[in-house]
Amino acid sequence: MTSTPSILLNPGRVLAGAGSLSQLTELASYFQARRVLIITTKSVAALVDAPRRSLEAAGLSVTVIANTPPEPEVADVQAIEAQARAAGSFDLVVGIGGGSAMDVAKIMAVLLAHNMDLRDVLSKKVEITARGLPNIMVPTTSGTGAEATPNSIILVPEDELKIGIVSPRLLPDAVILDPLLTLSLPPDVTASTGMDALTHAIECYCSKKGNVFSDLYALEAIRLIALSIRLAVQDGSNIAARADMLMGAYWGGVCIATSSTTAVHALAYPLGGKYRMAHGLSNAILLPSVMAFNQVGCEVRFAAMARAMALPVGDLDDHAAAAAFVQALHQLNTDLGIPDNLKSLGIQASDLDGLVDGASKVTRLLDNNPRSMTRDDMRQIYAALI
Ligand SMILES: NC(=O)c1ccc[n+]([C@@H]2O[C@H](COP(=O)([O-])OP(=O)(O)OC[C@H]3O[C@@H](n4cnc5c(N)ncnc54)[C@H](O)[C@@H]3O)[C@@H](O)[C@H]2O)c1
Ligand SMILES: [Fe+2]
Repeated sequence: MTSTPSILLNPGRVLAGAGSLSQLTELASYFQARRVLIITTKSVAALVDAPRRSLEAAGLSVTVIANTPPEPEVADVQAIEAQARAAGSFDLVVGIGGGSAMDVAKIMAVLLAHNMDLRDVLSKKVEITARGLPNIMVPTTSGTGAEATPNSIILVPEDELKIGIVSPRLLPDAVILDPLLTLSLPPDVTASTGMDALTHAIECYCSKKGNVFSDLYALEAIRLIALSIRLAVQDGSNIAARADMLMGAYWGGVCIATSSTTAVHALAYPLGGKYRMAHGLSNAILLPSVMAFNQVGCEVRFAAMARAMALPVGDLDDHAAAAAFVQALHQLNTDLGIPDNLKSLGIQASDLDGLVDGASKVTRLLDNNPRSMTRDDMRQIYAALI
C-alpha cells in the first residue's frame, strides 16, 4: 500500500447495467430538471430517440445537438455553444457519446452556467471557480473514462495541440453505464478505445501519483479489460463482454481522477494535436514500447498487472513476470489488429523533432512517469516505431 495523500473523486450517482439508460428520466427528475440539453454525436443519435421521448412524456423540454465531431476543436465547441444559446436556457446537460461528446457536454455545462468564454478557460485567463449546470454523462465507447474524470480535452488547431481543461468542478454529477449503447461500436473503434482504457489503468497503477484508490480500481479495470477486449472486438453483440469493457473503462476513468496517466499519454498528445490521430489508437500503439521502457524499476507492479490479466506467470519471479506482461501487450495489439508502428500511419523520420518537442511540453503527465524520460529516450521510442 502506498501512503501518498490522495483523494477519490467519484461522480455522485452511477447507474450500471443493460437497459439502465431507461432510468434517465427518473434521474432528470432527481435533479429537478425542466429543460434538458442533450449533446451527442451523429453515429449514436438514433439511440437518443427513446430517452428523448421518455423525457418529453414526463413534461420536460428537450433540445438535442447531435453534431459533435470526433476529437472536437475550439471552433466545434463554440458552434455547439452558439446552437445551445440560440435554443434557450437549460437546467440539465446530458452528454451521450464517446469522450468527444462527453468532453463537449462537460465544458458546456460550465460555459452555459457562468457565461464563460472557452478561449479564456483554455488559456487559463479565467479559472473555473464553480460547478456548472447539473450534468449526466452516458458513454457509448468503452475508452476514455471521461464520464468519471475532471477533464475536458479540446484541440487547439493553430497550436497543433490538445489542451486538457482540468478542474474538480468538471466531474460529472451522474453517470449511466449501459452496455447496450456500445453494441454498435465497430471492431476497430472497440479495439483502440478499449486499449486506451487499459492504458489508463496501467499508467495510473504505476504513476508517481498512484495511491490506495488507484491500486484498487486499476487492477480491476485491467482484469475486466484483459478478460473481455478480444471477445468484444470479435463479437460486438456479446453483451457480457461489452459490460466488462464499459465497467473497465469507467474504473480507468476513476483512476485518472485520483492518480494520473503518464508517458504513454504524453507521447500520444502530439500525434493527436498535430497529426489528428485518434486518441485511443495513438495510445495503443505507444503502450508496449513505453511499458518496455518503464519496466526497469517497476517489476513488482508489472508482475501484479500480469496476474490481474490472468497471464500464466504463477511460477515466474517478478522480473520474468514483468517481461511477460510487456510481451502480452504486444500480443494484445497484434490480436486486435492494431498496427505495431507509426510509419504505416504516415509518420516519418522528419517528424521526430516535432514529436519530441510536443511530448516534452506535457510535463503535467511526464512528471508522473515512474521512470524519468529524457528527450533522447522519447526520440528512441518514437524512432523505433517509424
Ligand atoms: N475527458 C477525459 O478524461 C478524456 C480522457 C482521454 C481522452 N479524451 C478525449 O476523448 C476523445 C476521444 O474519445 P473516444 O475515444 O471515446 O472516441 P470518440 O468519442 O471520438 O468516438 C470515436 C468514434 O466512434 C463513434 N461512436 C461513439 N460511440 C459509438 C457507438 N456506440 N456506435 C458507433 N459509433 C460510435 C463516434 O461518433 C466517433 O466517430 C478525444 O478528444 C480525447 O482527447 C478525454
Ligand atoms: Fe486516454
